[in-house]
Amino acid sequence: MLHNSSSDSVGGKVLLKRTLQLMSLILLVVPALTACHAQPTGGAVCKIAFLLPETKTARYETQDLPNFRRRLTELGFTEKNLIYNNANQDAATQQQQAEAALTNGATVMVLDPVDSNAAAKIADLAKSKNVPVISYDRLINGSDGVSYYISFDNELVGNLQGEALLAALQKLGQTNVPTVVMINGSPTDNNASLFKRGAHAVLDGRVNIAKEYDTPDWSPDKAQQEMEQALTALNNQVDGVYAANDGTAGGAIAAMKAAGLNPLPPVTGQDAELAAIQRILAHEQYMTIYKAIRPEAEVAAELAFDLCQGRSPAVTRFNSRVNNTKIEVPAILLKPIGVTRDNIKNTVVADQFWSIEQICTADFEAACAAADLQ
Ligand code: BGC
Repeated sequence: MLHNSSSDSVGGKVLLKRTLQLMSLILLVVPALTACHAQPTGGAVCKIAFLLPETKTARYETQDLPNFRRRLTELGFTEKNLIYNNANQDAATQQQQAEAALTNGATVMVLDPVDSNAAAKIADLAKSKNVPVISYDRLINGSDGVSYYISFDNELVGNLQGEALLAALQKLGQTNVPTVVMINGSPTDNNASLFKRGAHAVLDGRVNIAKEYDTPDWSPDKAQQEMEQALTALNNQVDGVYAANDGTAGGAIAAMKAAGLNPLPPVTGQDAELAAIQRILAHEQYMTIYKAIRPEAEVAAELAFDLCQGRSPAVTRFNSRVNNTKIEVPAILLKPIGVTRDNIKNTVVADQFWSIEQICTADFEAACAAADLQ
């Protein structure tokens, strides 16, 4: 009995050990198999859809697209398997472009949404087809179909713009509370609300925000009309302008020039567009925000390529998690940098974002020399 029971217990132990081994094997293998099953490629051709929101802002066609494409080629991706579309700031167009990309066999989607909330429908559809979605630059809200998010610290963008505007107003040395007009970005862009929140956090209570607009489609023309309205309402008495990006800054500056304001009040911007860097040199715009789009586009290409090949990107790549009202999305948030005349050389030029030759064209030679850009 004793012997038997002891041998039973030995046998039991062996059985238990075997069962545990089998279970751990199942635990190891099953997720791997499911992961394989969830792989977008599944033996099919790996195709990446890159969907950008608009063309009025220079960055998309001149920075985001070429850098994304170049990085993919470097990684060995077949160029013809890239599906690229720009939605020209139309959410319905973007929806159609995304549907067409999925129909045409996209296995990974990199989406910069025109409308951060409406794009949930796109991400849900992609998820239903097992196609992972990378939310590019702008967050896609309200969908659990978003795998990763890559962008900048966008609230910090707003803080930096607000701080630079305050510094410029202080330099003017006036004693009254300065009157400021705020020209924000598109109300459908999640980034625009982050820029706006960041700027308000700095400006509220320190300046008088006499007029404030959300600019549909980020349109420079609409920004110009908003500024015209503000100038009329305020009798041209404006001390500073918060413009959320360089396109809207350009519109606001055009309105102020047309109204004969001289000197122009300090104006903020964002994107370090070539035209904005030149306006800064010409004393028409006070600052811009430099966001290194090259690493943003490159990292997006690397993540997309990994997913396409059935690999999960290393967790160590991510430095944040961002809530999109549905899930916590693993995110990579890059750092924005404020640029005024004083650091053009050390930022955009040093980084080869723009060369001195590109900036210092004939019209800007004198301004470049004065700013020691040669
Ligand atoms: C981007 C900006 C851009 C703006 C207008 C934002 O989501 O972050 O860089 O200027 O959209 O396209």
